[in-house]
Amino acid sequence: MGMLDGKVAIVTGAGGGIGREIALAMALAGAKVVVNDIGASLTGIGETSATPGEQTKAIIEQRGGQAVTNTDSVSEWESAKRIVQSALDAFGRIDIVVNNAGILRDQIFHKMTPEEWMAVINVHLNGSFFVSRAAAEHFRAQNSGAFVHMTSTSGLIGNFGQANYSAAKLGIAALSKSIALDMQRFGVRSNCIAPFAWSRMTSSIPAETPEQKARVEKLKRMTPEKNAPLAVFLASDAAKDVNGQILAARNNELFLFSQPRPVRSAHRGEGWTPELIAEHALPAFRAQFQPLDRSGDVFSWDPV
Ligand code: NAI
Repeated sequence: MGMLDGKVAIVTGAGGGIGREIALAMALAGAKVVVNDIGASLTGIGETSATPGEQTKAIIEQRGGQAVTNTDSVSEWESAKRIVQSALDAFGRIDIVVNNAGILRDQIFHKMTPEEWMAVINVHLNGSFFVSRAAAEHFRAQNSGAFVHMTSTSGLIGNFGQANYSAAKLGIAALSKSIALDMQRFGVRSNCIAPFAWSRMTSSIPAETPEQKARVEKLKRMTPEKNAPLAVFLASDAAKDVNGQILAARNNELFLFSQPRPVRSAHRGEGWTPELIAEHALPAFRAQFQPLDRSGDVFSWDPV
């Protein structure tokens, strides 16, 4: 018995990288899979592959599983609806949506163009909304469903040269939390994974300074398939009481990310002036400030 027997899953961006591994693992767990991918280049500009998901589908079928491919983009409402429709057409239902498709347009902030901003927000944040929203009506009607979205430590912690991507990824964490609140009454769950993997996306990380080189060396040890068991688990009924959470997979280690909550409070009966904030609140708060660097990033630890 597979953990996803009888379920139908859509995995966006499943033509390669983490998405492919999630699609393969879901099929092995018994799900019928819609392998969605437009075959984009890393930046979403220029040449696309004609048969992006075919290899993923072929591997699933070689192993006795069932899959169809779909080449619609997640980043438009009409085409996102077609992605969900392709699950209904091929398999008659939809139980799982994995919002994994993504592109990068890294740029230091003062040079980031509106186009670089919009392209990344459209695929990651708007794409996650469009596909989720298209599936949500079916989840509501059947009183069940599971969303798994890909966030990133770039959003949860922040990252250099990734204002567009970080904003999209933290937006996805918020989207997931709100879907979880809105739809728990209908038996629908929504969770995020912050994955780690050496993939086409991360192979674009600069490796010039010794610090960057060390980071890339660690990353190379983390293969995309290490993220797949967590996605299968979150999509399965074994996670029926897991909702609105952010988990991470890094090689053989799993993390639960803390949720934003007030970490310190300061109260003054007469209210505050700017001067009093500087004098009394700031010293108390400063001790709890999130450091403005990448410490706290799990890259600062050695993978186990
Ligand atoms: P990847 O570049 O190997 O895969 C992304 C896939 O999405 C590609 O096959 C691409 O063709 C597809 N895609 C792009 N635009 C699309 C669109 N509009 N519609 C449909 N498909 C589209 O990247 P990787 O590393 O596998 O990333 C997968 C997800 O995990 C992304 O959401 C990424 O942001 C996230 N992530 C990855 C990390 C890593 O360490 N690799 C770290 C944190 C997050």
